[in-house]
This record gives sequence, structure tokens and C-alpha cells, in this order.
Amino acid sequence: MEKLFVFSSSSRKTNGDGRTRLLSATNPGDIQEAADLLRAGELVAIPTETVYGLGADASNEEALLKLYETKKRPQNHPFIIHVASFEDLPKWAKNIPLRAKKLADAFWPGPLTLQLQKADHVNNVVTGGLNTVALRCPAHPIFLKVLKAANISIAAPPANLQKTVSPTTADHVLDGLAGKIAAVLDAGTCEYGIESTVIDLTSQIPQILRHGPISQAMLEEVLGEAVLSPDAASDSIPGRVVHYHPKNPALRMSLEEIQRYVIITPKKWFAIVHHSPLHIKGDGRYVSILLPRKSREYASSFYAALHEADKDCFEIKGECEILIEEPPKTPEWDGVRDRLAKATTKP
Ligand code: TXA
Ligand code: MG
Repeated sequence: MEKLFVFSSSSRKTNGDGRTRLLSATNPGDIQEAADLLRAGELVAIPTETVYGLGADASNEEALLKLYETKKRPQNHPFIIHVASFEDLPKWAKNIPLRAKKLADAFWPGPLTLQLQKADHVNNVVTGGLNTVALRCPAHPIFLKVLKAANISIAAPPANLQKTVSPTTADHVLDGLAGKIAAVLDAGTCEYGIESTVIDLTSQIPQILRHGPISQAMLEEVLGEAVLSPDAASDSIPGRVVHYHPKNPALRMSLEEIQRYVIITPKKWFAIVHHSPLHIKGDGRYVSILLPRKSREYASSFYAALHEADKDCFEIKGECEILIEEPPKTPEWDGVRDRLAKATTKP
């Protein structure tokens, strides 16, 4: 069975016996409600332009501890702090370099996170004990409305359990967190679909810590200087690399390898995520999920495709693996290849 994967938000919503409120971004009262809950120290999932974030008041230690606990994230893995504008930076960072201003002017609000020196008064809980802070002003109009209504800064990792696939819809959020958080504010599907680019501005040469929608070339053009960048698919930065994965085993390979692997592995079933035409003759043991061939469109459906592949595998009675076609090794695919390397193994 082959299906073209055009993602649309479904209406299946289970909210954990009513313990997680379903709020709608189209209702101004619900946006205020989300803000009030955050101010009261509750956890609320909020849409950003990258993925849904699980928000907590960044100045409320108890709320932050609840955030680590609920996400099952170790307390040395810090949160990105979301601010309403560049003017909020001095609340969190010190010795803010000119580079930060240049990048914020060019890319904020938007999917770029700046790592800066932490201001002295900032609580270690939000920075995981580091002397740096990570800050971004998100572009999603609903997130910005919540920031303004709450008048706080918001710590927000992706709204999923640690080591699982990030959520790009409210349904994905509820899959992992229904009943465990106060509310989810539903605003449909996230535009970019992969997390923000993270750049370190504390060292002599700016360095990308995590690839994302803002590419190395875009950063270099605005800064007018070289930006270091790790190999998108390498695991060379211990501690920084978090692996997450679909619930079923997931492998990445070339299209040719996939076609061969399916034939030589007769007892299994497969959910195949690909972007090139797939030819597997006379074999019905797979579901195919076809993603767009352009990196930007591919990225925005990538996590949703992994969620979908898991669902397809669960509907199959036999043993099932997820096979994902590796994208080209060109810079516009850096963000996707980085996420893919973290979500899969090589056979
Ligand atoms: O797009 C995004 O960035 C999403 C949405 C919700 O905004 N958030 C997100 O958060 O991806 P998270 O928790 O996955 O990002 C954590 C990463 C860390 O792996 C690290 O690279 C960087 O942000 N980071 C966070 N706090 C830091 C700190 N204090 N110093 C240095 N890097 C930090
Ligand atoms: Mg993460």
C-alpha cells in the first residue's frame, strides 16, 4: 500500500480523563487561560513555529522542576528560554555581544536560539547548572500572545517525553502527555516541523550546536564571518546529543538498500518513509509514506511521518521496522539529517 503523506490534523483527542484541558488558539479566552495557568506554575503545551513546546514559567523553580520530572529529562539538560523580544535578553544574559543583536535583527522572532553567558542572578535550574543560557523569541503568533498575556519568559522543551519523537500537532502532545500536564493550546500543525537552530555566541568563533531551519549559510551571511558547524550526522559532541526514537525499531538507508533489505528480510513488515520513487516488486509487506522532495517541506512533515509510521506498525500484527530513506548530503538537509541520525540506527 502506498500513500502520499499530506499531513492534516485529526480530531482524535484523548485528554487523560479530563486532567489535561484542551484549549483552542482561536478562542481569546483560551489564550488568557493558558497564560494564567503558566503564571500559576502549571505546565502548558503551546505551539511554536518549530514544534509544540511544553511551557513553564522560566523564573519559577518549582514549575521548572515539574517540567524536568514530567518530561523525564535529566536535570543537567537545560531548557531554552522563550522571550517576547530582544529587549528581554538582559533579564537572562550578560555581556551580550553585537553578534546577538545582528542575529536577532535578522531572524527574530523565529527559529534561532542564541547561547549566551548567563546573568549572575539566573537560577541554575533553568540552565541545568551551566553558566550559559539559551534564548529565543519564537515566531508563532499564538506563542507570542501567550508570552504577552502572561508577561513572563517561558522555558519550553518539545512537549513530549524525553527520547520520543517531538510533537508537531496537539494530538502528538496528548499521545505522550495526556493527563500529565495542565493544558494543551491547539493551533494546528507547526510550520517548520524541526526544532530551532542553536548557535553558541560565547566562544571566539560562533558555532552551531544544533542544526535547524536557519542554516549555516544564512548565519554567515548576516554575521559576515565564518560559523563553525558540526557534521550534521555525527555524534561527535558527547552530552549534547540526545537520541530519541520512534516506538518501533527505525533504520536509515539509501533507497537501493531499502529495496534490497525488504526482499532479503522475509519475515518482517515495514513502514517505509521515503522521498524518491520506491520499487519493490510483488511484495505487500510494507506501508509506504512518501514525503516531499524539498528539504523545507520534508522537514515540516518529518516528525509527523515518524508518528504515522509508528501507528502503521502497531496496526500490523507481525514484527515491524521503520525504514527511512537517507536524504542528500547537502547543506539544506543538515537539519533533517541531524534529526534522522538521532532517531535511527544504521543497519
Ligand atoms: O525549536 C525549539 O527550539 C523547541 C521549541 C519548543 O522552541 N525547543 C527545543 O528545546 O528544542 P530543547 O529543550 O530540545 O532544546 C535544548 C537544547 C539543548 O540541547 C542545548 O543545545 C540548548 O538547547 N541549550 C538549552 N539551554 C542551554 C544552556 N543553558 N546553555 C547552552 N545550550 C543550551
Ligand atoms: Mg530535544
